[in-house]
Amino acid sequence: MSFALNLFHAAELEGHMLGEGALGGAELAAKLASGTGDIKARLKRVLADPAGQRALFASLRAFAPNLATDKTLVTAYPCDGTVIVSRADDVREVLDRQGDFEVVYEPKMRKITGGANFFLGMQDGADYQRDTSIMRLAAQRDDVANIVVPLAREAARRIVADHATTIDVPDVLTTVVPALMVQRYFGIDTASVADLREWATAMFWYLFVDLQGDPDVEQKALDCAPKCLAAIDAAIARTQADPDGPATVLKRAIALRDAGTGGFDGSGIRNNMIGLVIGAIPTISKACVQALDGLLDRPDVLARTQAAAAHGDEQAVGCAVFEALRFNPVNPVIYRRAVRDCEIASGTLRACRVKKGAMVLASNLSAMFDPAAVDDPDAFRTDRPWDVYILWGYGLHRCFGDAINRAIIPALLTPLLAGAPLARAGGDAGHPDSATPFPQHFTVTR
Ligand code: HEM
Repeated sequence: MSFALNLFHAAELEGHMLGEGALGGAELAAKLASGTGDIKARLKRVLADPAGQRALFASLRAFAPNLATDKTLVTAYPCDGTVIVSRADDVREVLDRQGDFEVVYEPKMRKITGGANFFLGMQDGADYQRDTSIMRLAAQRDDVANIVVPLAREAARRIVADHATTIDVPDVLTTVVPALMVQRYFGIDTASVADLREWATAMFWYLFVDLQGDPDVEQKALDCAPKCLAAIDAAIARTQADPDGPATVLKRAIALRDAGTGGFDGSGIRNNMIGLVIGAIPTISKACVQALDGLLDRPDVLARTQAAAAHGDEQAVGCAVFEALRFNPVNPVIYRRAVRDCEIASGTLRACRVKKGAMVLASNLSAMFDPAAVDDPDAFRTDRPWDVYILWGYGLHRCFGDAINRAIIPALLTPLLAGAPLARAGGDAGHPDSATPFPQHFTVTR
């Protein structure tokens, strides 16, 4: 994966600091020593694994918390040099300083929509505030409890009942339920589940995961984008023709526009809906898969979580699932580009100059393991305060689906966890596949 590749380069550059003395350094050194092949191959393997990433970041926090290099690791966006930020305070500082560290996604967003930007690609300002405000009126907080969770619970219950002994989790459950949410709650009911997940995955991969600018990844995304936009246009037409249809995000966006009180005009609805579609499906699925994988690695926690699920205790399931995700989040870094020459962690021993144009990789994974910010970070605990978790961004651009994610992931996994003890299927099938950045297969049995 691109992320592992980037860290691989970073670690190669700074190989001198991987010595004994700090826990992370010792762990990383041991992992590297035990592998086969040359050092590059070993590093690549170690960093493809979340435990290897955690060990690297432990080293960085100890020896080079803000590591600046002239090497450009992200080639998909214009930038000059790289800074890797690993301490919790500094990660939050970077993501709080919109004026100094900008989001970079705009050019790709414009290619997806065929012209317009989407709010994740915008800096803070009038356009960003207008678009997010409209979308928050269209996608209301109460909808999570009133529409999204019942829908997810019921769909997951039905799917799990249909796969009583063996279930390929992403294929039949964790991509399907968010796609149903896109159809029935967002209102893009003119596209099939299969189409939605294919389009959303291709576009998400291109926009956020492909840091090297792979032309094949771009081509696939740009093939999918017009199909998804056409489906949204068809859904807009269908919704307008059916005023008695169910409440959906799309229906509310249309009503806001028609009220003439400052809703989206032109292709605004379409361009904002595609942003939501892209964000929702591969992310929720990957989070569910990685959380379940983490629970299966911890039999005691799995047994306790299954007991909670058997009582329908989604809150307790959530505590275990989000803690599992802390060890293996969907995205381990969030990246920003420096708008000007500036400094982070000013006034501390780790103060670091950042030159204009540098890509700043703020590691939320590392922040969640920083002993300066998190009690007993290496322990798996289900009683952590929620603000420890940076699972889907932080600051201005924190995930628009925040409340949805927090509710839908436990709701979706509870029916699966509620039955007989779960186990991995034999062989490779019992582990999430890594053919793409988004697991497509991972079979569990009971
Ligand atoms: C577990 C599932 C999810 C994960 C891991 C995730 C991850 C993220 C992350 C890391 C960001 C911030 C990116 C940055 O700051 O550069 C973000 C923002 C965003 N996400 Fe999610 N996301 C998830 C689910 C969703 C869902 C369900 C939706 C749609 C409802 C969504 C829509 C968005 C949007 C629109 C933004 C931009 C917010 C802004 O710019 O203000 N995401 N997400």
